[in-house]
Order: sequence, then structure tokens, then C-alpha cells
Amino acid sequence: MPKLNVNIDHVATIRQARLVDEPDPVWAASACMLGGASGITMHLREDRRHIQDRDVQLVRQLGGVMLNLEMALTEPIIKLALKLKPEQVTLVPEKREELTTEGGLDCVKIASKLKLATKRFHKAGILVSAFIAPDQKQLEASCTAGVDAVELHTGEYANATSPEKIERCINEITEAVEMGWEMGMTVHAGHGLNYRNIGPIAGIDGIEDFNIGHSIIARSIFTGIQVATREMLDLIDKHWQIG
Ligand code: PXP
Repeated sequence: MPKLNVNIDHVATIRQARLVDEPDPVWAASACMLGGASGITMHLREDRRHIQDRDVQLVRQLGGVMLNLEMALTEPIIKLALKLKPEQVTLVPEKREELTTEGGLDCVKIASKLKLATKRFHKAGILVSAFIAPDQKQLEASCTAGVDAVELHTGEYANATSPEKIERCINEITEAVEMGWEMGMTVHAGHGLNYRNIGPIAGIDGIEDFNIGHSIIARSIFTGIQVATREMLDLIDKHWQIG
């Protein structure tokens, strides 16, 4: 069954709205794990708009938590990540004015930078995942750079409204999952996935991890994080079994 890493950035967003000490994303991380998550995803942005360095340090110290640190490929963040030593980094593009990560990383354009950074992470024992569009050129460039995994961007699928576009996106993701494994990389998926649209993506064989944030934290306002995490896992399980 695919694993679920919950992205807890939005808990920090609520805290930062008042610049106080609650809700604490570290509490949220424990609740996600109690709900059955396999790991925690956090995006330490350059502008520190939600997650703070202290949050990553504390979640890193929680027992039994696989920490997936989302980050941009900038030298100050790379240095911090090498010090914090999460199990995995997911490399994402980052723009200051965006509401959330918008596109995938252009691994063709940043090929040599990506290769060098991947070597540094591997030397520190950190797995590397590249957040990319489900596109053959991006998969090939990720593979050439030596990354361990790719996270396929599901945003276009999540935003699609016509049945034709939804079907095209599912086909693209399915093909990209197959190509990723054939190239020797592990395949993850995420962005914009929620309780209504997870089904067809969870039914694709070969996605090892899902990284889901906004929909789980949004539901948790009403149900609590533990229940919201469990409900997402149950849906993933159900659709993965149907295939
Ligand atoms: N994966 C990546 C690489 C992301 O940047 C994000 C958003 O932070 C997510 C997954 C989670 O997206 P969402 O909050 O829409 O579930």
C-alpha cells in the first residue's frame, strides 16, 4: 500500500498569522503519526512564511518520524538541510510571490546544479527527491542527475475540470510512474490532492508515497488531525486495492 506523508505547513501558517506559539506544528506531527502517517513533510521556505527552523529541528528529533524536507536549491537552505539531516529532501522551485509551490522543478535547465547538490546530500546520507511535472524529459534529467526519487506534480490533474483533461492527466501520471521505475527511481506524488480527487491517483500502481497537506489540515479543523489523516489513508488504501 502507498505511504502517506502529511505536509504540516498550514498548521504553521495559522500560528504565523498571529506570531504566537500555537498551534504548534510539532504537536501536529505527532497527531499525524498517531493517525497512521508514515512521515512528515515540511517546506522550509526562504522567506520563512510558515515553517520555522525550530519546527524542523524539533520534528527531526521526534522518534519514528520520517522527515521529508521540501526546499529550494539555494545555498543557505542546502547548508541548513545538510546540518538538519532529514531522511529525505524534496527539491522544489520557489518564488516569493506564489501562494504555494506552483510548477515542478525544471531539471533540464538546472541539470548540473541538481547533480552537484544531489552528490552533497548523498554524502550526508540524505535521500533526494525532485518535484517534477509528469514529463519524460524531466524524468530523464532527474535520473541523469542521480536523484533517488521523483515526486510527480499532480496539480494539473487536481485543477482539471473536464473529463477529457482529467483522463489525459491520469494517463500522463500513469506513464510517468512507469517510466520513473524503469529508470530506477522511486516515484512519489503530490499537490492539490484531496478527499474527492485522490481515488484515480491512488488507483495507479507504483506510487510509493503521497505528500498531502492542505486538504488534510483543512478537514482537521472539523475532525482533528488524527481522524483526517486516517480518513485519507483509508481512501488511498481502498482505491489502491481496487486498482
Ligand atoms: N508536494 C510538494 C512538492 C509541495 O510543494 C506541496 C505543497 O507544499 C505538496 C506536495 C502538498 O500539496 P497540498 O498542500 O496541495 O496537498
